[in-house]
Amino acid sequence: MADDDHIEALLARLSRTQKLALVRGAADPEGTATGYLPGVEAAGIPPFRLVDGPLGIRAEGQRATAFPASIVTAATFDTDLARRQGAAMGREATALGQDALLAPGVNIIRVPQCGRNFEYLSEDPVHAGAVGAGLVDGIQSADVVATVKHFVANNQETHRTTVSAEVDERTLRELYLPPFRAAVDAGVGSVMTAYNRVNGTHMSDHERLVGDVLKGEWVFDGYVVSDWYGLESTVGAANAGMDVEMPGVAAPGAADAADSDTADDGEDFEWPDGIPDATHAGLFGDPLADAIDSGEVPAARLDDMVRRVLGQIDRFGRLDGDQTAVEDGESDDQAGELDSQRHRDIAADVAARGTVLLDNDGVLPLADGADVAVIGPNVDEPKLGGGGSSETTPVHSVTPVEGIESRAEGAVTTAFGIAQIESVSLFDLLPFVGEDDEADGAAEDTARREQSLDDAVDAAAAADVAVVFVRDATTEARDRESLKLPGRQDELVSAVAAANENTVVVVRSGGPVELPWREDVAAVLEQWYPGQADGDAAAAVLYGDRDPSGRLPVTFAPQSEYPTAGAERRYPGIDDEVYYDEGVFVGYRHFDDADTDPTYPFGHGHSYATFEYGDAETTGEQTVAVPVENVADRPGREVVQAYVRPPSVAGVDRPQRELAGFEAVQLDAGERRTVELALDDLAFSRYGPDAGWTVDTGAYTVEVGRSSRDIRTTASVDR
Ligand code: BGC
Repeated sequence: MADDDHIEALLARLSRTQKLALVRGAADPEGTATGYLPGVEAAGIPPFRLVDGPLGIRAEGQRATAFPASIVTAATFDTDLARRQGAAMGREATALGQDALLAPGVNIIRVPQCGRNFEYLSEDPVHAGAVGAGLVDGIQSADVVATVKHFVANNQETHRTTVSAEVDERTLRELYLPPFRAAVDAGVGSVMTAYNRVNGTHMSDHERLVGDVLKGEWVFDGYVVSDWYGLESTVGAANAGMDVEMPGVAAPGAADAADSDTADDGEDFEWPDGIPDATHAGLFGDPLADAIDSGEVPAARLDDMVRRVLGQIDRFGRLDGDQTAVEDGESDDQAGELDSQRHRDIAADVAARGTVLLDNDGVLPLADGADVAVIGPNVDEPKLGGGGSSETTPVHSVTPVEGIESRAEGAVTTAFGIAQIESVSLFDLLPFVGEDDEADGAAEDTARREQSLDDAVDAAAAADVAVVFVRDATTEARDRESLKLPGRQDELVSAVAAANENTVVVVRSGGPVELPWREDVAAVLEQWYPGQADGDAAAAVLYGDRDPSGRLPVTFAPQSEYPTAGAERRYPGIDDEVYYDEGVFVGYRHFDDADTDPTYPFGHGHSYATFEYGDAETTGEQTVAVPVENVADRPGREVVQAYVRPPSVAGVDRPQRELAGFEAVQLDAGERRTVELALDDLAFSRYGPDAGWTVDTGAYTVEVGRSSRDIRTTASVDR
């Protein structure tokens, strides 16, 4: 923690110009950082670098471990593994000369087609909070500042820079705020505000949510940073509680791009939807000085901003004295670690553990000697992630074909079947980024690749097993148009399934997708965006070297069944307002309430092992214990989940059940263990605009099971 006297002494020595340099970003002379504070050399304050993003380190021009997408980490339901991934990302940030990581993203998955769901964690606040806190704790254990983002109600990419989330207080408190609160409770050093507005006010101007709730009620003592070009105003933002403007300077070429476009057609330049105005910068420069001079912003506010920034710089050992110590005797921790074997292993562990076995008629795990046809339009490419600020370039990666070829003992044939599914990226949407020569080359390669559905069908028919890899294509700044797989992938799967009854489909999607052929195939695995370990992780799960221990952090259902479907006002909004009319009934809370069976419920996922549950017992006000036995003849990993059903209270509409706790446990064949689950207060509490938080008196049923729709045993807790 920051040494207050030391910070105060430092602050007292700084001129106003020096203070201002600590609250507004500048260009990074080394060009690696996503955001840069120059520091104050004369006062011994070193430069401070902030870097993207949740899937690994995106330092410009550098390679780093491409970890699986955040939704994979969440699907492991394994907070310790999240912590280890966070620590690895922290060490990589340090190795690349960075001081703060712009991760994790903890926005609740509200809209199934949101383009950034892969960067987020869950449709459930207790789950998102626990996994997010694990990541925060891990990142900061490596002495790197974690930045929880995007505060708050940034749940869609369509109109993200202008839309107002019209959301009531109860829903904010019960659903959208808690993952941020969990990060604050875990000691997160920084919070990034969202681009959107909430109930009409831009998040960077939102005094009630930033000033009163985050800093006041939650006593957050780190710094609040804007999203990039997302600072709305000078006075409003400074007084609302914003501490740092990023990136603080216009993107190179942005002004020219805007000017030349205006000149072309005489119309005012309009930034593409989802892209912030990259010339909108410098609001915490001279305009902030002027606002202090005129008394619109108290001078004490600038001191507070600087104190918060210095507090984190100091907390993680970056003030001058500590830097010298690093040079004197560099230990591993201080030098960081990049692309090491242990980081590759963590990336592979998360990828395999987060893989969800949605269906299996017994074809999996594959026999070692099976002849396998590996089919799919992109089987020669790893699925690293989605597009945008989280794109990470690895040193090493494994494609599905490579992974299966190196594991299989039988013959392996491959076929693309249909045209390649092209990735989409935010960077291709930026008007000021030039044509990418490399990407053009890749497009030509695509055209040259031979594809024929007949070849795929022939390969499938000739093999013992056909494994079809399919994918969606998502990016920051764009939502998916639909939950259908792009291109002719559904057609490909159906044709292959008709040719081989042992067809296994491996889905790589950023969130829910529709799988219309699911009953015609023998098994379905959801691998999400597995990162650099892709093919190895797929093979490890397909052949049963690893148990598919992922569980769904988001409900899978036809697009029309989600609460945001069918009403434009709920999504994507009307006149830049999106109404959260469904209230707290998001995800499984909605499907339970509507009494609709989803395709695959929240928490769902099979294991290759079989688990039997004994009777759950409450062991305290906040804990429940349940014996779980692996009755299979192979080891497996179970995710034990506890949901709370509240007593009914007249006039109060509550979800039928809410996740209160979970625990991932590894059990050997025949092993039995009593698993203790801590129950989160949030699942017992409800928020009322007048009364605040209430825990109703009465009996709460604690449901313990394998998913939100597969309850094995119950216990009761009185409150
Ligand atoms: C994204 C943030 C990201 C920032 C810096 C923004 O477009 O919304 O998540 O950290 O850019 O790249």
